[in-house]
Amino acid sequence: MKAENDITIEKYKAILEISNNLASTLDIDTILNHITESAVELLNANEASILLYDPSKERLFFRSATNMRYHEDLSKILVPKESLAGWVAEHHEAIIIDDVHTDTRFSDFVEKSINYHTQSMCVVPMIVKDKLIGVLEVLNKKSGQFSAVDQEILLALGIQAAIAIENSRLFHQSDTIADLVHELRTPLGAINTITYLLLRPELTQDQKQTFVSTIQEETERLSELVTNFLDFSRLESGREQFVWEPVDLFTLSKECILLVAPKAQDKHIDISIEHKSPESVIASADRNKLKQVLLNLLSNSIKYNKENGRINISLFDAGHMIELVVEDTGVGIAEKDLSELFKKYYRSNDVHQTIQGTGLGLAICKKILENLNASIDIQSKVNIGTKVTVSIPKKG
Ligand SMILES: Nc1ncnc2c1ncn2[C@@H]1O[C@H](COP(=O)(O)OP(=O)(O)OP(=O)(O)O)[C@@H](O)[C@H]1O
Ligand SMILES: [Mg+2]
Repeated sequence: MKAENDITIEKYKAILEISNNLASTLDIDTILNHITESAVELLNANEASILLYDPSKERLFFRSATNMRYHEDLSKILVPKESLAGWVAEHHEAIIIDDVHTDTRFSDFVEKSINYHTQSMCVVPMIVKDKLIGVLEVLNKKSGQFSAVDQEILLALGIQAAIAIENSRLFHQSDTIADLVHELRTPLGAINTITYLLLRPELTQDQKQTFVSTIQEETERLSELVTNFLDFSRLESGREQFVWEPVDLFTLSKECILLVAPKAQDKHIDISIEHKSPESVIASADRNKLKQVLLNLLSNSIKYNKENGRINISLFDAGHMIELVVEDTGVGIAEKDLSELFKKYYRSNDVHQTIQGTGLGLAICKKILENLNASIDIQSKVNIGTKVTVSIPKKG
């Protein structure tokens, strides 16, 4: 049998290897999965989870866990402040508990929610430059109790994890900010030119009016761009939280139709809705986020439609999923563009000049739907129309 010391050294070597691996990727999910799996292995335990800290809500939420695939609900849980993880987050201190049920700081909220029995726990904060990134917790040591060495190893792993997460966030942030600045240049340039023209004395009242309307349109585009950008980057960084609730897709669709009705009427577009299976259109999703998706799709179907065009929403029961289909009689999308639509800022050349947009709508939809375990598919024929199918998990 190896001496305790040798085992400890081996474990530190393993951490070194892990941190090398972590440094080689910037993909946040790969990083987090790698950390939880290593934590379980190094501490000889059953499960490990990473809870990230959302400073705006001052709460932790599950972001990754070795048992997440069995307990999908984990991602839907907002961890109570009064819990062991909450305590560690608040005090920035690591803890070991042999029997959590004898500790008053323990909350059985999570284990009840996913029906999992917790006995022992080792929990450490993940901190980088005094900033709390989250909490790393390991559950149920396979034999014996968690030791001081276990805690030290987990702390070391937690620090590596915090650095890797922060790096990945900074990397994506600088990337998206560069993108945004680039996109802001076009509307800013247009406003700049027009204000310059407006100052010319020979302009007629009509010409002035046209210029002012263009400025108004461009500032609207700027503000839309910034709002969409913020939405998208929150989703991309994994900071956005989702709540799960039963969502009646028929009611939600009708609500969205009402909201877009004025824009549709401007182009004399008729919007209809049909649902084939009345009793089973309740999805399990985040209502507000799903509303954002539907409004984006309807906005596209109006914007890229013809005068007197039509839009139809239909709902189908498809086993475990509900299919929500938005069909329009618009300008359609060329074959070559279909695979590009979900890329951020992508707009097809055919519409770029004449119709306003930021090119973020579908990228946002895709991210939201991924988080909701839902999918989106677009089929289209130029000059005939576009059919978007969204499949959303049915309420279980
Ligand atoms: N229903 C549709 N019919 C025709 N083209 C579409 C339709 N939906 C999307 N497109 C094409 O896909 C591109 C990307 O759509 P997306 O919603 O992401 O951005 P956008 O509408 O240009 O801008 P935003 O939604 O941010 O205001 C559009 O520019 C357009 O070329
Ligand atoms: Mg759009």
